[in-house]
Amino acid sequence: MAKITAGVATSHVPAIGAAIDNGKTTDPYWQPLFAGYDFAKEWIKEQKPDVVILVYNDHATAFDLNLVPTFAIACGEEFAPADEGWGPRPVPNVKGHPLLASHIAQSVIQDDFDLTVVNTIDVDHGLTVPLSLMFGQPENWPCKVIPVAVNVVLYPAPSGQRCYNLGQAIRKAVESFDEDLNVQIWGTGGMSHQLQGPRAGLINQEFDNNFLDRIVDSPEELAKIPHFDYLNEAGSEGIELVMWLIMRGALNNDVELKKRFYHVPASNTAVGHLVLENKD
Ligand code: DHB
Ligand code: FE
Repeated sequence: MAKITAGVATSHVPAIGAAIDNGKTTDPYWQPLFAGYDFAKEWIKEQKPDVVILVYNDHATAFDLNLVPTFAIACGEEFAPADEGWGPRPVPNVKGHPLLASHIAQSVIQDDFDLTVVNTIDVDHGLTVPLSLMFGQPENWPCKVIPVAVNVVLYPAPSGQRCYNLGQAIRKAVESFDEDLNVQIWGTGGMSHQLQGPRAGLINQEFDNNFLDRIVDSPEELAKIPHFDYLNEAGSEGIELVMWLIMRGALNNDVELKKRFYHVPASNTAVGHLVLENKD
């Protein structure tokens, strides 16, 4: 059977992708940030996931404001990096896993979650930057990727609780897939940041560190935080953190914390990163 063995959380700042693509990772500004991912890059070479369920948000790239699904799962064979205004990132196409993705769709929808099924989608920095942080610059991504897109752009975003529950439903779906697969789930976005309005530039290190503590040890309590708390305390784009709760909901209650990293700033954002292994 397929099994979720580990979860990864990471911010997905577009400037990180630009730093990688333009050979700036050892610049003094960027070096401390990339050093925070050294552990995970080695770890994932040993873990060798077959499939990553990559929870991210589309930033009005593939879904414009005319059509914004709250949750969508991409069931296609292959996804190209999106052109976000500067041309597509020079990274490989992402290979999907249509069989597992459609199995997750049917299981989760029968469990009362309304996932939108997407077959063709270009994937933006929300998805490609985490892949680059974890895998560097390979010719091909070393595993299949199932994009799960969450609306955190157009109000209202789903609650943290609903995201956590969706993670649990995804886990149940994966565990009923009849093929031996090593599956990871990644939650991306955050941490605190606000890109617009009078509070642009907001960073809240206390909120972020509290979130990093609680997502490991008391996720069920953390899931109860109302969306206003994210907006008030972590900024309008801090709401991206609800996507980490999908990742956490798909793991066991007991997890082993293999890596915790926090760094301020990267572009306008506080960067957070966790590696969590399921305890048997
Ligand atoms: C930035 C961060 C994001 O998460 C994003 O989606 C876009 C921009 C930033 O810090 O610049
Ligand atoms: Fe974002």
